[in-house]
Amino acid sequence: MNYSLFFDYDNKKLEQKAYDNILKEFENRETGYYRLPETSKKFLNINFGAEYNEVVVIGIGGSSLGAKAIYSIFKDKLKKMIFLENPDPVDIEDKIKEIKKPLFFVISKSGKTIETISIFKETIKKFDLGKNAKNLKIITDENSPLDKFAKKWNLETFHIPHNVGGRFSVLSAVGTVPLKAAGLNVKNLLEGAKEFREKFFQKKEWHLNKKAAFYAQNYQKYPINVMFAYSNMLSSFKDWFVQLFGESLGKDGKEIMPVGHIGSIDQHSFLQLLMEGMGKKTLTFVKIENFQSKLTIPDINLPYLEATDFVNAHTFNELINKECDSTLEALLSKNYPIDLITISQINEKNTGNLIMYYEILTSAIGSLLGINTYNQPGVELGKQILRNKF
Ligand code: PA5
Repeated sequence: MNYSLFFDYDNKKLEQKAYDNILKEFENRETGYYRLPETSKKFLNINFGAEYNEVVVIGIGGSSLGAKAIYSIFKDKLKKMIFLENPDPVDIEDKIKEIKKPLFFVISKSGKTIETISIFKETIKKFDLGKNAKNLKIITDENSPLDKFAKKWNLETFHIPHNVGGRFSVLSAVGTVPLKAAGLNVKNLLEGAKEFREKFFQKKEWHLNKKAAFYAQNYQKYPINVMFAYSNMLSSFKDWFVQLFGESLGKDGKEIMPVGHIGSIDQHSFLQLLMEGMGKKTLTFVKIENFQSKLTIPDINLPYLEATDFVNAHTFNELINKECDSTLEALLSKNYPIDLITISQINEKNTGNLIMYYEILTSAIGSLLGINTYNQPGVELGKQILRNKF
């Protein structure tokens, strides 16, 4: 993994403050995600006691996006995962049709989220689920309504530590247990996350403090952070990032708004706005150095299409990464504060590293903005209004 900043910034005091704030959070144990690489080790040897072909996750937001992000990276080598998240009737019916021999995970930290429980009821009906069901597992906080229900039905339950919030929970049972069921090497995922955390505390990842300090100090000048991730494998990862930043860093009249794009596709939809719009954004490029693919652009000359021949016989790997470099260079000429995350190759360790990087970055920015990174009081009002509409 390589994290490079393409902007000049030097505010040692604020950078040190970012570091000190994180160290304090780690030491006072009020925020639990930092220690998940250790505490989630207990899930490494689970035997699910059921036969299944599909892992079905019923959950939303922080209870689904993390596992989905990792699944979208590794799906070629995992059992099929199906995510039932949205109360969109067509989507639910379509996905339910795909389910043949499932292992269900109902995931909700609060244990009472309306979307999750409503979809759960539909699966109970469709798949005739009941007490003692071996292929139905629950992941929730201890003593939540869902936890109490699970006890009543005698269902195997995995608990989420109380001090780990939804969007920071991917390395808890929320992400690791269903991903383990799908066949992911969770051990390496946790090791990668731990490695980043340790290097951070050894002050070997100082770029993070610099970026956090810059973002927090300039949040009015640059209220938007755009991620350009150059691989379809990262399409759900960018959604996870959007939730992590969005729900954590928009409070008390302050915000850093996350926007997620996939390169090179979104160069053809959004780049114009970046090149000639209002600016006011920081940009983060994410690229995969080695896709481990030799797929090459055929050396074929087609009449009237000679202008495209300059890439002939080069790999697609080279093309997508040179597109990333060229777009980055073009946007640097517009004076955007840019950073580049280079994933040497896709594996579980690098994925764990990236997750821990983003979680600590979010915490550091939030602490410097002086907001509570971990709550989401703004989403409650809509829930109350919904209740009164039935
Ligand atoms: O990050 C969060 O806290 C939220 O996005 C929650 O994960 C989401 O609302 C789902 O909540 P729960 O896990 O309680 O069902």
